[in-house]
Amino acid sequence: MTQVVLSETHGKVGLIRINRPEAMNALNNDVVDGIGSAIDAFEADAEIGCMVITGNDKAFAAGADIGFMKDFDYMHAYQSDFITRNWERVKTARKPVIAAVAGFALGGGCELAMMCDMIFAADSAKFGQPEIKLGTLPGAGGTQRLPRAIGKAKAMDLCLSGRFMDAAEAEKSGLVARVIAADQLLEETLKAAQTIAAYSLPVVMMIKESINRAFESSLNEGLLFERRVFHASFALADQKEGMAAFVDKRKPEFKNR
Ligand code: HXC
Repeated sequence: MTQVVLSETHGKVGLIRINRPEAMNALNNDVVDGIGSAIDAFEADAEIGCMVITGNDKAFAAGADIGFMKDFDYMHAYQSDFITRNWERVKTARKPVIAAVAGFALGGGCELAMMCDMIFAADSAKFGQPEIKLGTLPGAGGTQRLPRAIGKAKAMDLCLSGRFMDAAEAEKSGLVARVIAADQLLEETLKAAQTIAAYSLPVVMMIKESINRAFESSLNEGLLFERRVFHASFALADQKEGMAAFVDKRKPEFKNR
């Protein structure tokens, strides 16, 4: 049987590939469980400092698998807690996760990308929340994460029209961190992930946690959280090493402690 999620390591980076090319990488339970298991393994692996989720050149993921969910009734969706059980695993990862998006990132695919810490997009990328065309709505975070990423006006436009947004518009709107030529996407994303993975992992995790706090708290509470974590960083051997290396004009050797 084809493995619908493939995982491999590139140095200190864990790469997760969605592998259902025949269905534009549509997301079913096997795919979402597979992504979750790969994240579990990379989170537990002390050698890994950053993760990348990607698809293929045609699709990151064209949404939840429509055939899989089309006959769900309300009680099934509710009782099985559709989406919630396994989808949120990306959100709870403590190491950074980058989405490398080429081709379509639609519906649940766009929502999966938005659950990652940042999105690097190929110039071929197309983002959208076309659920309205199917008689439903973005149910895996689209109505909440999209306005936080690109503002109310564009989020309303995308969710209510169902239109797609290209990579240039996505970058201009703040949805994606970088746009990269399609044939360079994976290489450049892995390079950026290697850079992150070479830093002190506890510091990387503290920065991720602090930035995420900005979306969950008032400015003053967020600043207080940041200040306390900043103070805590002075307890790290890596802070001593990083600053000593600067003063000694040499490259730091972080030990992740
Ligand atoms: C199941 C899908 C699929 C999907 C594509 N396929 N998207 N199967 N679920 N979401 C399948 C097609 O049925 C087809 O299978 C094959 O992939 C190739 O797709 P085509 O349509 O032939 O390709 P193309 O003409 O290039 O169009 C690409 C596309 C289009 C624009 C991405 O496939 C499309 O509009 N897909 C649906 C996008 C969508 O509505 N996503 C939101 C889903 S709802 P066959 O067997 O015919 O070759 C959602 C809910 C989120 O995500 C909330 C809960 C998670």
